[in-house]
Amino acid sequence: MHFSFMHLISFPVIFGLLTEIQALMLIDKSDIPVVALDEMNDTHLNEVEIVNNLFEHIRSFEAKETDAAALSGLIDQFEAHVAQHFSREEQLMQTFGFPAFFVHKSEHDRVRGEMQPLFDAWRQNQDPLPLKNYLENVHPGWAKNHIATMDMMTALFISKAGG
Ligand SMILES: [Fe+2]
Ligand SMILES: [Fe+2]
Repeated sequence: MHFSFMHLISFPVIFGLLTEIQALMLIDKSDIPVVALDEMNDTHLNEVEIVNNLFEHIRSFEAKETDAAALSGLIDQFEAHVAQHFSREEQLMQTFGFPAFFVHKSEHDRVRGEMQPLFDAWRQNQDPLPLKNYLENVHPGWAKNHIATMDMMTALFISKAGG
C-alpha cells in the first residue's frame, strides 16, 4: 500500500524533473548526424557539450548566479573550439584533396564572420544577448544541417581516401 502510494507521487515528480533537465539542454546529442570519421564525430559531440554548458551559464549569468569572469571563460572555450573544429576539417580536406574544399571552407568562413560580432558584443559591453539569441535560434539548426551535408560528404570522401 505504502509502496504503490509512493509510486503515484514519485513518478510525476521524476518525470517533471527529467522534462526540466531536458528543457535546459539546448542541443540533444542524439540529434547530431553521425559522419564517417570518428574524429569529426568526437569534435561535434564535444562541441554540443560546450554549447549546452555555455547556454546554461548564460541563463544563470542573466539570473546573476554566474559571474562575468566565469562566463568569459566559457565563451573563450567555445570560440577556441569552433576555431579548432573548422581549421581541422579544412586541414583534412586539403590533405586528402577534397574537391569541394572551397565550398565547405567558405561556409565555415561565413559562420566565423557571423559569430565574431557576438563575441565582440560580450567583450565590449558584457552583453550576452546576441550570443544567447544565436545559440538558441540559429546555431542548433545550422550545426545539424551543416553536419548532415558538407561534413557528411567530407567525412565520406576522406574515409574512402584512407583517412
Ligand atoms: Fe564539423
Ligand atoms: Fe564543417
